[in-house]
Amino acid sequence: MTTPLLEMRNIRAGYGIIDVLHGVDLVLEPGSVLALLGPNGAGKSTTLAVASGQIQPSGGQLLIAGREVNGAKPDALARAGVCLVPEGRGVFPNLTVAENIRMMTFSGTSYGEVADKAYELFPRLGERRRQLAGTLSGGEQQMLAMARAMATDPALLMLDELSMGLAPIIVEELYSQVAKLAEGGLSILIVEQFAQTVLGVADRAAIMLHGRITRTGPPSEIAEELTAAYLGIDSGGH
Ligand SMILES: Nc1ncnc2c1ncn2[C@@H]1O[C@H](COP(=O)(O)OP(=O)(O)O)[C@@H](O)[C@H]1O
Ligand SMILES: [Mg+2]
Repeated sequence: MTTPLLEMRNIRAGYGIIDVLHGVDLVLEPGSVLALLGPNGAGKSTTLAVASGQIQPSGGQLLIAGREVNGAKPDALARAGVCLVPEGRGVFPNLTVAENIRMMTFSGTSYGEVADKAYELFPRLGERRRQLAGTLSGGEQQMLAMARAMATDPALLMLDELSMGLAPIIVEELYSQVAKLAEGGLSILIVEQFAQTVLGVADRAAIMLHGRITRTGPPSEIAEELTAAYLGIDSGGH
């Protein structure tokens, strides 16, 4: 057994007095892709907020590479290689593509290095390097958000609703890049509401409902369960 890169054991968390996560167990093996699926409000983004240190769990254990990191601040987890692309894309609309990428050079790497990597990953960004990020298409903005994340050379990349509001063909393009990153050995946790494309690149998948993981398994098995989950049917049967 390898040590999971990310592990949550019975994690509880919420906002103030409102509990959202009621004991979440999650395991992400190194070099694998885990898809976390579930309807709006299930607690998926809250799970990522805990994993990136933005929200402190009120119970349970958060482990990165086998080390308990409860209480660690976001910058400490970022230094440990945890990188989150938040819901709604993390780009600066009034800066150009190149400027958005240049901002990610604080960690000692040169702009040239970071930019080469970004444009190799997404050639379309290279063609548009002088364009304001806010004028890019939704798909291109998501590419830029991913390129910015990859500039930090993460060990764990977390993507929150990559496909939101995008045409299916663009989503496929984005996920083919995700698959390439995974082939390169990156560990990836992907949150989505709707499943089809993400299940194609995932090694494992989990369903979250009402702040709990209700099912974990191979993507093919999870695909069958999803319809029930979305229709609000108890998959245990009636
Ligand atoms: N900043 C916040 N303050 C209070 N409640 C929140 C906040 N963010 C999310 N919630 C609540 O937490 C629950 C889970 O939200 P979230 O983790 O965003 O779900 P998902 O990402 O699965 O759609 C929802 O009921 C939501 O209203
Ligand atoms: Mg969310």
